[in-house]
Amino acid sequence: MKKIVVIGGNGQLGSCIRKIAPNFESNYEFVFADSKMVDITNEDLVQSFIADQKPDFCINASAYTAVDLAEKEVDKAYAVNAEGVGYLAEACKQNKTVFIHVSTDYVFDGETNIDYSEDNFTNPIGVYGESKRKGEELALENNPQTIILRTSWLYSEFNKNFVKTMLNLFAQKEELGIVGDQYGQPTNANDLAEAIMTIIENPYKTYGIFHYSNYPETTWFEFAKKIAEFSNSKIKLNALTTEQYPTPAKRPKRSTMSLDKIEEIYKIKPKHWENSLEECVEILSN
Ligand SMILES: NC(=O)c1ccc[n+]([C@@H]2O[C@H](COP(=O)([O-])OP(=O)(O)OC[C@H]3O[C@@H](n4cnc5c(N)ncnc54)[C@H](OP(=O)(O)O)[C@@H]3O)[C@@H](O)[C@H]2O)c1
Repeated sequence: MKKIVVIGGNGQLGSCIRKIAPNFESNYEFVFADSKMVDITNEDLVQSFIADQKPDFCINASAYTAVDLAEKEVDKAYAVNAEGVGYLAEACKQNKTVFIHVSTDYVFDGETNIDYSEDNFTNPIGVYGESKRKGEELALENNPQTIILRTSWLYSEFNKNFVKTMLNLFAQKEELGIVGDQYGQPTNANDLAEAIMTIIENPYKTYGIFHYSNYPETTWFEFAKKIAEFSNSKIKLNALTTEQYPTPAKRPKRSTMSLDKIEEIYKIKPKHWENSLEECVEILSN
C-alpha cells in the first residue's frame, strides 16, 4: 500500500481529491493535512511531519490564493507560495517522496497570442504570480522528483470560486458587468484531481512542469454567460473592459496554456470546459 499525503486538504483542490480518494483506497492510503495540522511556513513542522509520515507522494494543494490581497500581503504570499513550497520539496527529497505541486497560469504576463508551453518565458505581473513562480523554482531546485502542474481559473462545488460567486450574484441582481477582454481556460478542480491521480498511478514518471486545464480558451464574460445558461438564470450580463473593472492586482490578458505535453507524456486528455462546467453547476443547483 502506497501513501499519499495531501497538504491543504481542506482547500478547493484538496476537497476534490478527498472526494475521489475512496476510488483509490485499495492501493493508496490517504492522509489529508489542513493548515492547523501542517503550517507549511514552519520548516521544522514540515520536516517532522513528512519524516513521520514517509509518504510515497506528497500533493501540495495548499497556497495563498488571494490574488488582490497579495499585493498588500507580500511577505505572507511569499511565505506560503514560495518558502513553504521549498520546505515541502526539501523534506520530500530527504524522504524519497515524489512531490506534486500545483502552480498557476499567472506566472505568465499574458502579452502574447501563442498558447504558452511549459518552457516559455515566465514574467508574472503581480505578487501572487511572482510568489508562485518562486515556489516553482524552489520546488524544482530542492527535489528532482518534483512534478508541477500549472492550472488556471479553478472552480468546483467546494470553497470560494468564480462559479459560486456568479451563482450568488445571479440570485441577487438583475444585471451584472463581467470582464470580457481577459482570456484563459476555466478548469474544474475535480478534473485536476483526476489528472493528479492519473499521474500518480503511472509507473513511469516524467518530472518537471506540466500544464493542465480544461479547454479551449474563453473570457470571464463568456464563462459567466455559460454559468447563467446552465443555471437557467435570466440575469442580463454586460461585457466590461479591464479598464472598466480595475482591481488591485493586474491579471494577464491572455494566459492560455498549451496542453500538449501532459497529453503526450501522461495520456491525459483535457476536457471541454463547458462540459465540466455543466457538471459543476448541476451539483451546485441540487
Ligand atoms: N483558485 C484558482 O483559481 C487557481 C488558479 C490557478 C492555480 N491555482 C492553484 O491551485 C492550487 C489549489 O488552489 P485552491 O483553489 O484549491 O486553493 P484554496 O481553496 O484557496 O485552498 C488553499 C488551501 O491552502 C491552505 N493553506 C494556506 N496557507 C497555508 C499554510 N501556511 N500551510 C498549510 N496550508 C495552507 C488553506 O488552508 P486554510 O484555509 O486552513 O488556511 C486552504 O485550504 C493552488 O496552488 C493555487 O495557487 C488556483
